[in-house]
Amino acid sequence: MTRLSEALRRATDSVNETLESVLPTGDGAEGRLFEAMRYSILGGGKRLRPFVAISCADLFNVPRDWSLRAGAAVELVHTYSLVHDDLPAMDDDTLRRGQPTCHVRYDEATAILVGDAYQSLAFEILTTPETHPDPGVRCRLVHALATAIGGRGMISGQMIDLAAENRELDIREITRLQQLKTGALIGVSCEAGAILAQAPDEAHTALRGYAHDLGLAFQIADDLLDNEGTEADLGKSVGKDVAAGKATFVSVLGADRARRQAHLLVDQAIEHLDMFGDKANLLRDVARYMVERKN
Ligand code: IPE
Ligand code: IPE
Ligand code: MG
Ligand code: MG
Ligand code: MG
Repeated sequence: MTRLSEALRRATDSVNETLESVLPTGDGAEGRLFEAMRYSILGGGKRLRPFVAISCADLFNVPRDWSLRAGAAVELVHTYSLVHDDLPAMDDDTLRRGQPTCHVRYDEATAILVGDAYQSLAFEILTTPETHPDPGVRCRLVHALATAIGGRGMISGQMIDLAAENRELDIREITRLQQLKTGALIGVSCEAGAILAQAPDEAHTALRGYAHDLGLAFQIADDLLDNEGTEADLGKSVGKDVAAGKATFVSVLGADRARRQAHLLVDQAIEHLDMFGDKANLLRDVARYMVERKN
């Protein structure tokens, strides 16, 4: 097992334990909601965002209990975005993380509520003292997450993505779309570590640069996998972007140039980590994995 796969496995186990501890349980009238919340988040997922959150926090020796909670918050938001992204009104997908999507397994109303509840739970976690003893730090985390995923962040990306069906976008427009849709959440995942550590401005800037290039490389890989991956490997349907007439890096650049671009971005992302020396080796490994992955 490589250094990265071992670290990813350990982080995944710990994030899952943290998620288990914060997810609501109970079999009252709302039991179906709680069951669906567990179904979509505990059933799979690579946990890459919590992994980068924890690894960035480790650069500054932030206590693991804190970074795991920040990582769980980010994973809750990510899973909320996927549950809603799969709805018939959006990408209309039936398979996610190797199992039927939330609205297929339950129903559309439940899937909408699951996403809503994940999102509020993410903020609830960030506001409690177990995440950080300093309320100012907690407030900065909440602000960073809210800004990244709101109407000027991820949600705008989703809006532009839907509007981009059957409309040509140039490379500049695609880059902006992907930065908002995917990059913003990866950005806050990285920055959370620096916020928890109350790290100096240079560290924030370096991690912002890393996350920027990583986010784009990650999304190019997602577009390539939609084009050339398999349903069995990915645990989600493939060929959806072309079928929906979606403008992506692959539709604009072609697969070969898109792949070269993703590798260039990874090299660039890694250069931003120089100030952290060997301590950032896992962040270097995960950046390479982001574009080499098969799922
Ligand atoms: C898929 O993200 C959705 C995008 C933002 C491109 P991941 O590939 O990280 O999905 P999971 O979490 O492993 O299911
Ligand atoms: C999803 O992007 C991005 C968000 C949910 C914010 P995609 O629509 O490309 O993700 P997949 O391919 O369905 O996983
Ligand atoms: Mg989508
Ligand atoms: Mg989708
Ligand atoms: Mg996709």
